[in-house]
Amino acid sequence: MKFSKVALLGGSGFVGRHLTHHLHNAGFQCRVLTRRAFRHPELRLSAEVREVGDCAVAQLVPALEGCDAAVNLVGILNPTKDASFRDVHVALTERVVEACHQAGIRRLLHMSALHADQAAGSSDYLRTKGEGENRAHTLGKPDIAVTSFQPSVIFGPDDSFLNRFARLLKIPGPLPLACADSRFAPVYVQDVAEAFVKALPDRHTFGRRYQLCGPDIYTLEEIVRLIAYHTKRHKEIIRLPDSLARIQASILQYAPGKPFTPDNYLSLQTDSVCDHNGLPDLGITPTPLGPLAAEFLQQHTRASWFSRLRRWARRDPAEIPRHQES
Ligand SMILES: NC(=O)c1ccc[n+]([C@@H]2O[C@H](COP(=O)([O-])OP(=O)(O)OC[C@H]3O[C@@H](n4cnc5c(N)ncnc54)[C@H](OP(=O)(O)O)[C@@H]3O)[C@@H](O)[C@H]2O)c1
Repeated sequence: MKFSKVALLGGSGFVGRHLTHHLHNAGFQCRVLTRRAFRHPELRLSAEVREVGDCAVAQLVPALEGCDAAVNLVGILNPTKDASFRDVHVALTERVVEACHQAGIRRLLHMSALHADQAAGSSDYLRTKGEGENRAHTLGKPDIAVTSFQPSVIFGPDDSFLNRFARLLKIPGPLPLACADSRFAPVYVQDVAEAFVKALPDRHTFGRRYQLCGPDIYTLEEIVRLIAYHTKRHKEIIRLPDSLARIQASILQYAPGKPFTPDNYLSLQTDSVCDHNGLPDLGITPTPLGPLAAEFLQQHTRASWFSRLRRWARRDPAEIPRHQES
């Protein structure tokens, strides 16, 4: 099978933007399918952008036609009033596979999450991600070669994990931290994107599921301390006992943006570390978080804030037009 044109569902998100860029640079033609094309004008630099409304099969089929492969990156961390975990992770996956069948697509890369497949009885997020992953493999047979990926938490310059804690650390007062001992092996978004690109044409990956992890394991508290160190926020971190962590989740689920919910709490009860890291199997050396964290978190330091303010006030010499010098 030869693949040159790839459709990406969820290609407008954090992982999707990096993957689209990676595929584009590797010579693939990309088509990003999104519910709202007007929100992503920047994507047009590396992809054709198609609107797919509410992702019914009838909308997906014409959007997929003409492509040789599809990537499904759609996922949510919290349900909304319009969409439950089951709607997005299971029902939508079923529609994507059906649309691939109808559009004649024979290759599908599916994004799951680490330990989603073992999560019966755990969080709705993990359970439905696992169900969706299984549905992709089962419904794809026999015509569609499916490969799925189960990453730990993914980091990058524009991620929502490091950046969320960096923002929380700016709030005055101590930081009450739930599930401080939960373990993660943060995996670099470029490594995740490379895993997709390498797997796409590789027959050995057909039908397989790959766990994706970084080389180092951190507890949540260690990650938060790393963020505090690099953003120079010397802050007291209060480790919440389990009972208070549950109460914190039950309150914060009603805060704007749902920063922490009971389902997030349940997800954190399963360590997000690999049994077998699939990156080396795909010929990729996992990138450590440590050396990149300083660079990615630079934007959250006070120095960066003042420098942005100076630039905004046009007092930064680099910003002064040449004719105003002297
Ligand atoms: N980020 C991580 O640390 C991490 C870790 C493990 C697994 N994952 C998985 O990796 C995938 C990508 O994660 P991400 O961080 O890139 O997520 P993201 O930035 O939130 O992007 C998710 C994308 O899904 C689409 N989407 C959301 N709700 C939808 C709905 N109801 N119907 C159709 N499309 C919908 C959105 O596209 P439009 O709004 O353009 O339609 C969006 O671009 C997800 O499946 C996630 O579960 C992520």
